[in-house]
Amino acid sequence: MHTLFTLIIAAALVLPPLSSHARMQQQLVFETSNGRVVFTHSDHQDAEKDCGACHGAKEPGKIPGFGKERAHQLCIGCHQKKDGPQKCHECHEK
Ligand code: HEC
Ligand code: HEC
Ligand code: HEC
Repeated sequence: MHTLFTLIIAAALVLPPLSSHARMQQQLVFETSNGRVVFTHSDHQDAEKDCGACHGAKEPGKIPGFGKERAHQLCIGCHQKKDGPQKCHECHEK
């Protein structure tokens, strides 16, 4: 009885919470010629509850034609309004 109890506590200490693991996987990395961009989808999703703000009316998923033009419009456009990073090096790691 006592041993079983200790085992359960040990397991709880060793295993990371499931939710934080799922969030870690929600980083999208864009490799570009100007350095890679890491986009933390989970944080953005928490802050902006409306999927449609970025995905439009369609089912959220890959954004058709996503690339430099679309990305800069979408990302920098909102960052200008909501005080997010706007300088090249704040998004592009070199
Ligand atoms: C702040 C902008 C933003 C918000 C808000 C947002 N997304 Fe996304 N999402 C993106 C971007 C950018 C991509 C990458 C698109 C691409 O690579 O074509 C993406 C990709 C995805 C993908 C594809 C992931 C993959 O592995 O390629 C899914 C699924 C997704 N989003 C679901 C959602 C859902 C569901 C919501 C709302 C709960 C949401 N998104 C809210 C920006 C956003
Ligand atoms: C709907 C609004 C919105 C859109 C669209 C958006 N962001 Fe953001 N983003 C924010 C806000 C607001 C912050 C500031 C959050 C803070 O300081 O806590 C932020 C912060 C960031 C940060 C710094 C914090 C971090 O997570 O590392 C990066 C990098 C970033 N955004 C990248 C992007 C990229 C890349 C895109 C486009 C694919 C994008 N964002 C689209 C609202 C947006
Ligand atoms: C808010 C984040 C953000 C900022 C600020 C930003 N970018 Fe980007 N940039 C991106 C994203 C996201 C992509 C598109 C990634 C994709 O779809 O492949 C991109 C794509 C690019 C590309 C295309 C690279 C390729 O391989 O096709 C170039 C070049 C570029 N950016 C240069 C710049 C320059 C120069 C600045 C500053 C004037 C800047 N970016 C500012 C997020 C940002």
